[in-house]
Amino acid sequence: MAYPPEFIEELRHRVGIAEVVGRRVALKKRGREYTGLCPFHNEKTPSFTVSDDKGFFHCFGCGAHGSAIDFVMRTEGLSFPETVERLAGQAGMDVPRVSAAERARDDRRSELLAVVEAAAGWFESQLAAGIGAEARAYVDQRGLRPDTVAGFRIGFAPNRRDALKTAMLARDFTEAQLIEAGLLISPEDGGTSYDRFRDRLMFPITDRRGRVIAFGGRALSAQARAKYLNSPETPLFHKGRVLYNHANARIAAQTERSVVLAEGYMDVIALAQAGLAHAVAPLGTAVTEEQLGELWRLAPEPVLCLDGDTAGWRAALRAAERALPLLKPGYSLRFALLPEGRDPDDLIKDAGPENGAAAIRAVLETALPLSELLWRKLRQEQPIDTPERRAAFGSAIRDLAGRIGEPRVREFYLDEFNEKLTILLDKSRDRRSFRSGRQARGGYGHKGGRQSGYRSGRMRTDAAPAQGLPPASRLKASLSDGRRDEKLLAMLVFHPALIEPFHEVIAALKLANPDLDRLRTAILELAARRPDLDSASLKSHLVGIGQVEIVDRIAGPKAANEYWFARPDVKSEEVAAGLHQALARRGRVGMDEEIRARQHALAAQMSPEVWENFRAIKDDELRPNDSDEADVDRLRGYLDREKAV
Ligand code: UTP
Ligand code: MN
Repeated sequence: MAYPPEFIEELRHRVGIAEVVGRRVALKKRGREYTGLCPFHNEKTPSFTVSDDKGFFHCFGCGAHGSAIDFVMRTEGLSFPETVERLAGQAGMDVPRVSAAERARDDRRSELLAVVEAAAGWFESQLAAGIGAEARAYVDQRGLRPDTVAGFRIGFAPNRRDALKTAMLARDFTEAQLIEAGLLISPEDGGTSYDRFRDRLMFPITDRRGRVIAFGGRALSAQARAKYLNSPETPLFHKGRVLYNHANARIAAQTERSVVLAEGYMDVIALAQAGLAHAVAPLGTAVTEEQLGELWRLAPEPVLCLDGDTAGWRAALRAAERALPLLKPGYSLRFALLPEGRDPDDLIKDAGPENGAAAIRAVLETALPLSELLWRKLRQEQPIDTPERRAAFGSAIRDLAGRIGEPRVREFYLDEFNEKLTILLDKSRDRRSFRSGRQARGGYGHKGGRQSGYRSGRMRTDAAPAQGLPPASRLKASLSDGRRDEKLLAMLVFHPALIEPFHEVIAALKLANPDLDRLRTAILELAARRPDLDSASLKSHLVGIGQVEIVDRIAGPKAANEYWFARPDVKSEEVAAGLHQALARRGRVGMDEEIRARQHALAAQMSPEVWENFRAIKDDELRPNDSDEADVDRLRGYLDREKAV
């Protein structure tokens, strides 16, 4: 439905966004803006701001951003026209008339809504009536409580060709309407129409607002062709866009700050009955892009809770792959892997009525991040036991991450996968060198062992230079080492206030590129002399001492796009956190190099001193990272000082 742009403009202008948002979020005025706790992600300190002047809300934590209309759409789950209607009503504005064709379509929709609503009521009445006795027994046997049956409006379609048809025609609905609503099947050969749902337990499917738009029916007899039968696509129902239980889950998701995607009707119902009302399900198909979009409107990290069988694992992978092109900073999926052969309904039953919710929550809490699920898939599909396979694995990593549309997310995925691979290869290398070390030492004890140990050492010395870096490290180095250092220095140039708190760590960095090394020295020198240095004077000073090219590369206008996360307009505490992370990671890279060097030395000469040397650094690596903690302390001190200013 189209509205004149001027009308929307005027509407935005007339409804104060702070007022609209203020109905849901406790806002505090700060200068010309308001701040509060972001309703779109879980946070303890406010990073959500609302500007009446600009007519926008923006969250620095999760990136949520939009107008009053967007806010109402997201928090109330209304469509655009619904939101416009509501806000216009509140602002006392008339919504401009829409075209006759659109009116007609709307009228037909409301007629169809009345048809399916009437059918839902009738199915409910059949479950309660004498004819529903067997269905009620089934409901009991499945452990559904009366309040659950009433809440989900579960009903019964009797085993007759025209039970619903007769009842609905008696209420003045037309046959054509019943067919269009998907309730009657009209045979191709022109024969008489008949009830689509027969001898089934009926689950009404509602839209975002809780209006019935379609049905799912579970067969009560084992002879039925399909266990579940859904309404066909109708003007009201597009199954790829709908989530079962969306309306209820939306409300619950706000307090739970999370949403669960289960596989089917019974899972959702069992979860709700156990006290987890924030669950939805797709309708017998794999999760679609539209459904992912809906899920992300409910919570930034929906948890997929799929059956613990191969079908469930496959469904998880399909959802994961579908999500890749759609990922945005702060938005992802998590995956709760259920025990072998169980679905949520089973799990709740296993735990008993008292502990069902706790059992499910325990599973939900350990849900894997999307990146971890994808990593497991990669590992499962591809062995890495030969150099060629490792190379292929490296390509698979890049291919998979390449499917992520959002560049920032993509880069962090690459980082994470490469890091995991490095750790994995280091481990297997350790195991190998441990084994060969043992063999060599075993040799000591035998006759002539010293001799052969020495000789094998010699041979390895000769071979060492040719070995070079192991493949994973080379992959990693070529991908991002230089860039990583540039990134780091860019943060300093843009935010010189960060230099002092990180001074020592920065000074200790090993920078491979001599240009960057010189730049670092110049930055540190100047910062030491001028504690209140700002970015502009730092830059002009660096240019003044001949560092033009490099400053332009890392902090010029072009770089501002690439190093968006370091730009002056990004809050310095965010940059500080990023810098801390980059330094921590950089520290580890340095250590990896050192470990490799000592490992080579060990391979070359298996002596007690060299072994001791190697063991010392491995111990260091495994020890909880002191320097990390020192960094965090420094960072805290810095942030406290910032706040005090
Ligand atoms: P399941 O077979 O796992 O069903 O299918 P369930 O929810 O555990 O149901 P119960 O416990 O056996 O009664 C999961 C979902 O797949 C769709 C339905 O949406 C179902 O809820 N499905 C399944 C169909 O659409 N048609 C079928 O024939 C089977
Ligand atoms: Mn199931």
